[in-house]
Amino acid sequence: MAGTMRPFLKWPGGKYRVLQRIAPRLPAGRRLLEPFVGSAAVFLNTQYAAAWLTDANPDLINLYRAVQSDGDAFVACARTLFTPEHNRPDRYYAHRARFNQVSDPWERALLFLYLNRHGYNGLCRYNAAGLFNVPFGRYLRPYFPEAELAGFIAAAPRAQLAAQDFRATMGAAVAGDVVYCDPPYVPLSATANFTDYTRGGFSPQDQRDLADLARTLAARGIPVLVSNHDTPDARSLYAGAHLDRFPVRRSISCAGQRREAAQELLALFLPANFAAEAPPRTGAELVGLTTG
Ligand SMILES: C[S@@+](CC[C@H](N)C(=O)[O-])C[C@H]1O[C@@H](n2cnc3c(N)ncnc32)[C@H](O)[C@@H]1O
Repeated sequence: MAGTMRPFLKWPGGKYRVLQRIAPRLPAGRRLLEPFVGSAAVFLNTQYAAAWLTDANPDLINLYRAVQSDGDAFVACARTLFTPEHNRPDRYYAHRARFNQVSDPWERALLFLYLNRHGYNGLCRYNAAGLFNVPFGRYLRPYFPEAELAGFIAAAPRAQLAAQDFRATMGAAVAGDVVYCDPPYVPLSATANFTDYTRGGFSPQDQRDLADLARTLAARGIPVLVSNHDTPDARSLYAGAHLDRFPVRRSISCAGQRREAAQELLALFLPANFAAEAPPRTGAELVGLTTG
């Protein structure tokens, strides 16, 4: 995609491919809050003066901190793990075991990037004991995302980072903030399930808390945009918001490589005074994206 910045991580549910749908819906503001930052695709492709990027996955935030604080050294060290000798099952499982026992933040950050690019499908999954358990990915030549790391390093000075639950981030929003929420999806069906990014999963009560917080923030003058599957449950969760839908193609990995068209929902909780004001500059205008 011309003019856009690709995230350096593979991330299930990442929004890079649907930025053109999302960015135009984001109102202007001083600071972007992303309580479910994942691969940071939205942050990287909007130009708010400041951003508060948070996620419940501490390994993800630890990696971003390492890249933010010493990007050049990080790139130089990480590159040494992207060679054919490290792309073998025995090496992968040794690095994975090391990741699961080491506490040094720098080493964990390096290994987390390695695991993301060498593990199966870029999945991020932990067992009940909190150990990363994604199998070897068997890629011919895993890509070292040097240009993408450089993009993150360039954008990072305007970001503040925290590993925390979305309720803490949304609860601390202030006037001038714009919130983009991309939670784990509601299930498409009663039997569908999705990758665990964190140990606890994301419950129906979490989905309700998020919708309630979005309403509360809008009532306090802070706009909130939420992404989810377009299902009857999601529509009833977001009742009262401005809704948009668009088709996406996604792979349902547990059943092999089946790809299905699904509908994505965007729910915009707008403060009452926003509608009355002159239309604000949108996130898309800020970065020059066109609507697709
Ligand atoms: C769909 S992904 C976000 C993808 C992101 N928008 C992107 O473009 O890559 C959902 C994210 O929510 C995070 N998450 C799960 N439960 C959470 C919680 N209770 N609070 C905050 N983040 C959570 C996961 O770690 C994951 O990164």
